[in-house]
Amino acid sequence: MEAETQAHDDDKPAAHGNGDDHGDAGETSTDGGDTELHGLLAEFETPGALIAAARKVKNAGYTEFDCYSPFPVHGIDDAMGIKRTKLPLVVFGGGLTGLCGGLLLQWWMNAHNWPWNVSGKPTWSIPANIPIAYETTILLSVLTTFFGMWAANKLPQVWHPFFRLDRFAKVTDDGLFIGIEASDQRFELEQTKQLLVAAGATHVEECHTDARPEARTVPKAIYGVMIVLTVVALIPFALAFKARASKSSDPHWHVFSDMDFQPKAKSDQPFGEFADGRANRGEIVGTIARGNLRADDAYYRGLRDGQWITELPAAFKVDVDKLNRGQERYNIYCAPCHGFDGGGHGIVPERVALRGGAWEARNLVSSDSVAIKMPNGQLFNTISNGYNTMMGYAAQVPVDDRWAILLYVRALQRGQNATQAELPAGAQVR
Ligand code: HEC
Repeated sequence: MEAETQAHDDDKPAAHGNGDDHGDAGETSTDGGDTELHGLLAEFETPGALIAAARKVKNAGYTEFDCYSPFPVHGIDDAMGIKRTKLPLVVFGGGLTGLCGGLLLQWWMNAHNWPWNVSGKPTWSIPANIPIAYETTILLSVLTTFFGMWAANKLPQVWHPFFRLDRFAKVTDDGLFIGIEASDQRFELEQTKQLLVAAGATHVEECHTDARPEARTVPKAIYGVMIVLTVVALIPFALAFKARASKSSDPHWHVFSDMDFQPKAKSDQPFGEFADGRANRGEIVGTIARGNLRADDAYYRGLRDGQWITELPAAFKVDVDKLNRGQERYNIYCAPCHGFDGGGHGIVPERVALRGGAWEARNLVSSDSVAIKMPNGQLFNTISNGYNTMMGYAAQVPVDDRWAILLYVRALQRGQNATQAELPAGAQVR
């Protein structure tokens, strides 16, 4: 090692290869004070050697040093004494800010600045706020992760003094380096060199930076280019703004005019290709979609030979499940008006009464009610198509469920008009 370092010191000017003579010892530079020592760069043979050396440098008390390798070296963070990143904490803060900001935003808009009654829903409620609060949480977490990572790594940094050393180019290929900066409190050129050699470096090199002030300022031309690029980048925005803020009698400019104007007919628009001038063709007369014939008059319409059927249609299989289903559907679709007992005092008439009105749904179960006397077919038809001011339920309740509801209405009627003789021993009509 020692010999190699020695040899290196001898061929130093050649090693730099950039015509810059940094001299033998960095501290006393020979090129007229134009350069100053940035630090030492030491090369190592293997990742294992790099880790061992990093540990030695750390244990010697250095803090201003870094390791450079073409690929991630596992265990190097620990060897260098790099602490776990605090980024997660920052991101947590960002996420929390997003969460609270999202909630605040919605509270301010929906409950404070512009409260709006939507179907009597509360103007501000947590469940309705979850989607947006979730999005803002993610948004701010992601942004703090992204920009926090840049800030924590002191990016963007496009240049580093070690780039001046030709040997350092190996770092993108097969070079493993430790660089100790001269700004480190423990840095002392010869001692630090010896430490690196003792730690197994195959090559140690001084790195000098250009100390001239003009070398440390951004060239004026770059500012010029930045200003020009910024102005150019604003042009599209300016054009869009002008287009939005001014009026024009010219037609739109269509980039893909064959996409904007397609030869197709939209429904409900005139279309000359057909004799009736319509684009919408409707159903074809005399055809029925497969499985939609509905020829069973009794089942689908409650009719036989033009008369209401009095029994239940054969296609409707009665069992206790159908009755339970009927009860459930009745309680959903009918009870609001006709009441759970069918007596006509559901929550809707109650509500009308509260406001001083008088409106009631028919009593479906009293012994003199029309509904108790009407044949099954007619009751089914009333449920399907409605009656006077009551709307039909064919659109919402499938055929079988309508028969199940009918079954339950019949059960309600039967249950409330039983005679003492029909009851089992011990039961009492009230
Ligand atoms: C929105 C309230 C409302 C709902 C819901 C409702 N009905 Fe009615 N129903 C009425 C009113 C009101 C009438 C009386 C209509 C009229 O005479 O103008 C009526 C009439 C009837 C009649 C005729 C009774 C008669 O005396 O002629 C039957 C049968 C009936 N409903 C059954 C049902 C069934 C079964 C359901 C559930 C599928 C149902 N209704 C759902 C309000 C409702």
